[in-house]
Amino acid sequence: MVRLVHVSAAYERSGASPATCVLNDISFHLAKGESAALIGANGAGKTSLFLALAGILPLTHGSIFIDGIALSKRAIRTIRRKIGFVFQNPDDQLFMSRVYDDVLFGLLNMGIAEDTAQNRARETLAKLGIEHLADRSPLRLSGGEKRLCALAAVLVMDPEILFFDEPTAFLDPKAQRAVSAIIWALPHTKLIATHDLAFAQSLCTRALVLRSGSLAADAAPSALDPEWVF
Ligand SMILES: Nc1ncnc2c1ncn2[C@@H]1O[C@H](COP(=O)(O)OP(=O)(O)OP(=O)(O)O)[C@@H](O)[C@H]1O
Ligand SMILES: [Mg+2]
Repeated sequence: MVRLVHVSAAYERSGASPATCVLNDISFHLAKGESAALIGANGAGKTSLFLALAGILPLTHGSIFIDGIALSKRAIRTIRRKIGFVFQNPDDQLFMSRVYDDVLFGLLNMGIAEDTAQNRARETLAKLGIEHLADRSPLRLSGGEKRLCALAAVLVMDPEILFFDEPTAFLDPKAQRAVSAIIWALPHTKLIATHDLAFAQSLCTRALVLRSGSLAADAAPSALDPEWVF
């Protein structure tokens, strides 16, 4: 479902700083319905890998295939319909004045009829247990509430593959448990970036470990020594 073949990527040169290679020769395959954690220290390249998967960070080598389709400028629209990103910071995802409008936005943008879109938005909010937040401003929600609203805005689009960047960052233990339980129950193919090895152990049977932009391990999370990972 998600296949990377010898993927390398670099951010462009800016001002005096040279182009920096952030992903080095990464290969892995996620089967349909499989969940894997993407683990690595700050700056290891997790978010950069997601930017590459979104077609935002250009590859310098290698290829990415989503559901068998090679990621390219031409295929990007087809591929974006199959994938959903839950960003590291929900504030980057929620920008309307009402939660409900944020959840509706993608559907209306895709040309879905208003009443169908409204039904799907309501259903998704209900599935995540956040119908009561529909009329609230995303700016005035708690961190956990924001995460669930950002997740609703993604799930409503019905993607087959989900990429989560630090979904439990800044949440208290109760909200962490609530958000992880919801993520865990989703049947999608999922890649979840996290620093939290215990979270990965509870959620996934597979961990991909990034170190300085390289894939240092592809193993069961329980087999990983935190001293070695970070
Ligand atoms: N826009 C950019 N231009 C140049 N370098 C960047 C840019 N964004 C990130 N980097 C560099 O790329 C490397 C990987 O960053 P990335 O954000 O992918 O790490 P991460 O694993 O997501 O870290 P964190 O756990 O802190 O979120 C870092 O060295 C970072 O400084
Ligand atoms: Mg990151």
